Amino acid sequence: MADLDDIRDGKEYGLGVSQKTEGYFLKGSGNLDWGMKDRLSRIFNPTTGKTVMLAFDHGFLMGPTSGVERIDLSIVPLIEHADCLMCTRGVLRSLIPTTSRKPVCLRADAGTTILTEMNDNVVLDPVDAVRLNASAIAVMVAIGDPNMEARTVANLYNAVDDGLEFGLPVMGVTAVGKDMARDARYFGMAARVCAENGANIVKTYYTEGFEKVVACCPVPIVIAGGKKLPELEALELAYNAIQSGASGVDMGRNVFQSESPAAMIQAVGAVVHKGMKPQDAFQLFNELKNR
Ligand code: R5P
Repeated sequence: MADLDDIRDGKEYGLGVSQKTEGYFLKGSGNLDWGMKDRLSRIFNPTTGKTVMLAFDHGFLMGPTSGVERIDLSIVPLIEHADCLMCTRGVLRSLIPTTSRKPVCLRADAGTTILTEMNDNVVLDPVDAVRLNASAIAVMVAIGDPNMEARTVANLYNAVDDGLEFGLPVMGVTAVGKDMARDARYFGMAARVCAENGANIVKTYYTEGFEKVVACCPVPIVIAGGKKLPELEALELAYNAIQSGASGVDMGRNVFQSESPAAMIQAVGAVVHKGMKPQDAFQLFNELKNR
């Protein structure tokens, strides 16, 4: 029990000074609860409003594809340069050091591989995501796919219910079916559908007219990098996305398949957080690579 004989009366009431009411830096997130906002501000840097997510969840679909054969050797050294790690629970538990102190966006869907049909399961128990101290969960949505659309939208909807229960933001990951045009109209629709169903973040792909995709999506958008490009082109992609209003990248192959992954993730970081021009970022990449 605390001492009762020296209870001092409070005197620093700051009378005349209004209590500050903080706004929230992230698009469409101002009405969320404290835990959601806390997790989102681990993923997105509150100073820049942006994030560099390092995606290395490819193995759950593709197996040991190039660059993720040995995550301990290829990915772990990059962690210090990432703002957020996107991976599966298996890799997180088996290979990612618990001392990394980085937020994790946990892949929630599983169940199929590239050898069969597109994935439509969400099997992650949100309790396991909390157990793993995840800062968000990622759920794939296949807009326009006649067999998958309804089920994957329902998956997202249910994941958002779970997320609200536990204070876990949900990232809607827009998968592009083979028959879909990769244009601003399609990505704008897919992103908007994710947000309307409750996604707190949308991951999609950059395309011409991307500013319209961003404008009509009420929550932050991050772009996937897609297949490996020459470094300068990948930096241009990131630059164009950021200039069009994207809140960051969720990049995998263009980092871990680069000739110098550590240099590349730092160059991408300069584009995302400092608005560095692609040519300057490419020069930075070369300097870091040769160091
Ligand atoms: C794809 O299903 C995975 O979610 C990847 O995390 C995502 O595509 C980003 O990786 P990449 O930049 O290699 O496309």
